[in-house]
Amino acid sequence: MSNPWTDPDSLPADTVQGLAQFINARAHIPDQSAAHAGLVEALAPRPGERLLDFGCGTGVIARRLAPLVGETGAVVGVDISGAMLDFARTCGGPAQLSYEQSDGATLPFPDDSFDGGAMARTLLHVAHPDATLVELRRVLRPGGRLAILECDWGTMAVDHSDRALTRRILDWRTDTVDGNNWMGRQLVARALAAGWQISDIRVLTTIGRDETTTHFGSIRRCGELALQNGVIDQKEYDGWVGELDSRLAAGLFFASINEYIVVTRREDH
Ligand SMILES: C[S@@+](CC[C@H](N)C(=O)[O-])C[C@H]1O[C@@H](n2cnc3c(N)ncnc32)[C@H](O)[C@@H]1O
Repeated sequence: MSNPWTDPDSLPADTVQGLAQFINARAHIPDQSAAHAGLVEALAPRPGERLLDFGCGTGVIARRLAPLVGETGAVVGVDISGAMLDFARTCGGPAQLSYEQSDGATLPFPDDSFDGGAMARTLLHVAHPDATLVELRRVLRPGGRLAILECDWGTMAVDHSDRALTRRILDWRTDTVDGNNWMGRQLVARALAAGWQISDIRVLTTIGRDETTTHFGSIRRCGELALQNGVIDQKEYDGWVGELDSRLAAGLFFASINEYIVVTRREDH
């Protein structure tokens, strides 16, 4: 399946606008907000630092970082999509926050430009993730650190009476929909291959039991996509989604997924 996040500007304008509204609103949902807070805490920004938010989208992480570096610091949000950046600029922010349009494989900054960086839910979508990790290392100064957040759909656990069908739907979603959904577990090996040192690895397991988190909606959506793509038939869909709906109504829905935060450091020897 094509991945809308790889090059949003190739999509119709109203579609990109919808994606931008989706990620901006998603940032306020408790499980997502907790993951973003964990990423910022792992990066530990200091006043006066110059930080990069790579794959910034609508700027949800950049806007968390900007107050922490203060007026003497700077945060630059970088994204391949001009439409995402236009949306980000409408969301405001302090003077030390700016945006630049670029592909991660060739960043428009000299060597050693930043003290640190963050990257949230982006590496799974970029066309050249390994080249991007090398390029991010080039633009961070020696000693600079990069905090990376990725979830891993292969860790999505859902309680359902039909185990075989649940595995079929979730495995298909993990292997097929919207990018490399094993990126979370691959971060350490890919970062090491790009020349980074690993300074911290954190796992945040988020739990969904109702509709206040993203789990129920995104799992139900798996069923819809599987039906639309011929992975399951209408009878299987009705049974699978019907049980999810019944469990939700009865307070018996349960799902969890792992969010990985890996902090890498550039150490030149
Ligand atoms: C799922 S969004 C995440 C946005 C934001 N970090 C967040 O957590 O809300 C992924 C972002 O990566 C950007 N992106 C995809 N490929 C890219 C590339 N090669 N270079 C720079 N940005 C890229 C997309 O335009 C999109 O804004």
